[in-house]
Amino acid sequence: MRKKIIAGNWKMNNDFEQGLKLASEVNNMVKDEINADVQVVICAPYIHLASVGKLLSGKVALGAQNCYTKKSGAYTGEVSVEMLKSVGVSYVIIGHSERREYFNETNQFLAEKVNIILENGLTPIFCCGETLKQREEGIHIDFVNSQLTDSLFHLSPEQFTKVVIAYEPIWAIGTGVTASTAQAQEMHEKIRNHIASKYGASLANEITIQYGGSCNASNAPELFACADIDGGLIGGASLEARKFVDVIKAMK
Ligand code: PGA
Repeated sequence: MRKKIIAGNWKMNNDFEQGLKLASEVNNMVKDEINADVQVVICAPYIHLASVGKLLSGKVALGAQNCYTKKSGAYTGEVSVEMLKSVGVSYVIIGHSERREYFNETNQFLAEKVNIILENGLTPIFCCGETLKQREEGIHIDFVNSQLTDSLFHLSPEQFTKVVIAYEPIWAIGTGVTASTAQAQEMHEKIRNHIASKYGASLANEITIQYGGSCNASNAPELFACADIDGGLIGGASLEARKFVDVIKAMK
């Protein structure tokens, strides 16, 4: 049975106090309201991690939104996976389209991030997704498959089973336009088939593939009901506890 995972990606939002308040509200609501077998993750900015980590219960895990590829040293402004681990982080988002676009992160660089995350026993949430132009040109499936091939297909089968994939069509992120269930399910199935072509169907069947992009409590029930959608990476709707927990509740 593959794991169902809903992760909130706060992005660059919430000052220190706001972050503590939001995390503790989410934590309490999840404790009281969520019985389903869903792993909830809060991916907060670096400044929050140590404090937010202390107030989360077992049902909500701590995630980071980025990491660097080196263990330590003269890399001003960067944070290593060892450092993240030391404050209780267990998930790390990598390859978000915003980092690919604004910080020029390449598939090769992301392959290095995946390696260091796995070496430390943490779980990478590897984001992939196409632009609207690529979809209109009909190359979206090949493009997403190549992101997977280039950043992940060097992994051993055992390592690959520890990876979470987040499919986030760029045109749906923060736009209010979500992929239709047919579009999302189609891509998730193609991703799973692509993994199966390299690692075999039974391994592919165990991989959690989240959907992300304007996912909210209204569209989540339909999206999460799709055969190959195993959770969500939630941006805007994770910034209010009630909204985020309502998305989590849509995961049955
Ligand atoms: P959104 O962001 O839910 O605000 O569209 C999702 C993401 O970028 O992870």
